[in-house]
Amino acid sequence: MRVLVVGSGGREHALCWALAASPLLTKLWCAPGNPGIATIAETVPISVLDLPALVAFARAHAVDLVVPGPEAPLVAGLADALAEAGIPCAGPSAAAARIEGEKSFAKEIASAASIPTARYARFADAEAARAHCRRLGAPLVVKADGLAAGKGVVVAGSVAEAEAAVTSFMEEQRLGAAGQIVLIEECLSGPEVSLFALCDGEHAVPLGAATDHKRAHDGDRGPNTGGMGAVAPAPALTPALAEAASARIVRPALAELARRGSPFRGILFAGLMLTAEGPKLIEFNARFGDPECQALLPLLASDLLPALLASCEGELGDFDLRWHSGASVAVVLAARGYPEAPETGSEIRGLDRAGSLPGVQIFHSGTRIAGGRLEAAGGRVLTVSGRGADLDQARARAYDAVRAIDWPGGFYRHDIGGPPLP
Ligand code: AMP
Ligand code: GLY
Repeated sequence: MRVLVVGSGGREHALCWALAASPLLTKLWCAPGNPGIATIAETVPISVLDLPALVAFARAHAVDLVVPGPEAPLVAGLADALAEAGIPCAGPSAAAARIEGEKSFAKEIASAASIPTARYARFADAEAARAHCRRLGAPLVVKADGLAAGKGVVVAGSVAEAEAAVTSFMEEQRLGAAGQIVLIEECLSGPEVSLFALCDGEHAVPLGAATDHKRAHDGDRGPNTGGMGAVAPAPALTPALAEAASARIVRPALAELARRGSPFRGILFAGLMLTAEGPKLIEFNARFGDPECQALLPLLASDLLPALLASCEGELGDFDLRWHSGASVAVVLAARGYPEAPETGSEIRGLDRAGSLPGVQIFHSGTRIAGGRLEAAGGRVLTVSGRGADLDQARARAYDAVRAIDWPGGFYRHDIGGPPLP
C-alpha cells in the first residue's frame, strides 16, 4: 500500500507513526509534513489546501489511500476531488464534513436524529442575537457558525460578555465570513470528553475517548488553546456512558447523514459534555483531535491501515480493533507566548534521549530545521506521549521524557492527567 497523509502537526506525525508500523505499507508520503514526520515518511511540499496539487500527486504516484489530518481540506472537498480521480480517502466528503464546517448544520442533524445537545437559536442579525442574549440571561455560549480555528466559541459568564462576542463576530467581523451567522446556546456543565469513531458511512467502530486539557496553564487557567495535553482512556467516561454516547449520539448522526445522501466516512469526533442528564453533544468534528490522536494511537494494538481502508470501502461492519490495556498521556510543549504570540526560532535539544525512554513517543508539531539545528516554528511545537500500565505510570513516563528535553524557549502544563508533577 502506498499512502499519503495530509497535514503537518502532531496528529499527522502520530498517524504517520502508526501507519509506518503496518506490514501492508510499502511507501509513505506526507504533505507538507514536518521534520519529525520526515524521519519516517517522505515529505512533499504541498499545502493542505492545494487540492489540485494533492490529487495530481496522488495520481502520479499511484497512491492507494489518502489520510487527511485536518478539517480544512475536507470541508473544501478533498475527499470529493480524490473520489473523482478514483483514489480512496479516509475522510468525509465536503457534504458530510459540514457537520464540522457549519455548526448550525450539526445542530440540524442533532435535532433530526433526536441527539441530546444544548438548546440553541441561530441568528443572521446581530441586534436580534443580542436581544436573545438579554432575554436568556447568563451563562450562555456564543458560537460562530463557520470554521474559526478554535476561536469561534465564547462561553460567556455575563450578558455583556455575550453581547460583546456577538458584536465582535457579526459586526466587527473578527472571524471574517465564519462569524456572519452565530448560534446562541444554553451553557452545559460537566466533565468534557472527546469521543472518536471510525466510520464507513453506515458502521462506526470505536476509536476510544480522551480528555483534552484546553487551557494554556496549570489548574485550567489562562487562555483557551488547541489543546495542551490529553489523557486516554478518558477517566470520566465509563463503559456504560461510552455505550450511551455511541447509541444516542454517534450512530444516530451517522444514520441521519446517510439518510440525507451524505454518508460519513472517516473519523468522527464527538465533543461531549457528561451532564447530570447523561452525555450531551457539544460539537462534531470530521477528523481526529490534536492532541487526542497522540494519546490514543499509542494505545492501538491493531494495524491502523486496514481499518482506514475498510472505512473507505464500507467494510467496517464486522471490524474489530484491539487496544492495549493501561493508559496514555500526551503532554504538549508549546513555544513561550503561545497562544497569543508564540516566540519561534529557539533551539530544541535532547529529543533522541527523551524519545528513547520506555513507553515514550515524541511527535513534532511546529518544528523546523534551520542551520542544522531543530527550532520552534509554531505555537504548539511537540507532543510527548507516555504509555503505561496505568495512568500514574503513563504520566510518570511522559513527564520524565518532557524533563529530558532541553528547550528553554518552551513551556508545558504540569497537571495533564492529575495533580502537578515537576
Ligand atoms: P470548540 O472551540 O468548538 O472546541 O469549543 C470550545 C469549548 O467551548 C468547548 O470545548 C467547551 O468547553 C465549550 N463549550 C462549547 N459549547 C458549550 C456549551 N453549550 N456549554 C458549555 N460549554 C460549551
Ligand atoms: N483538541 C481538540 C481538537 O482537536 O479540536
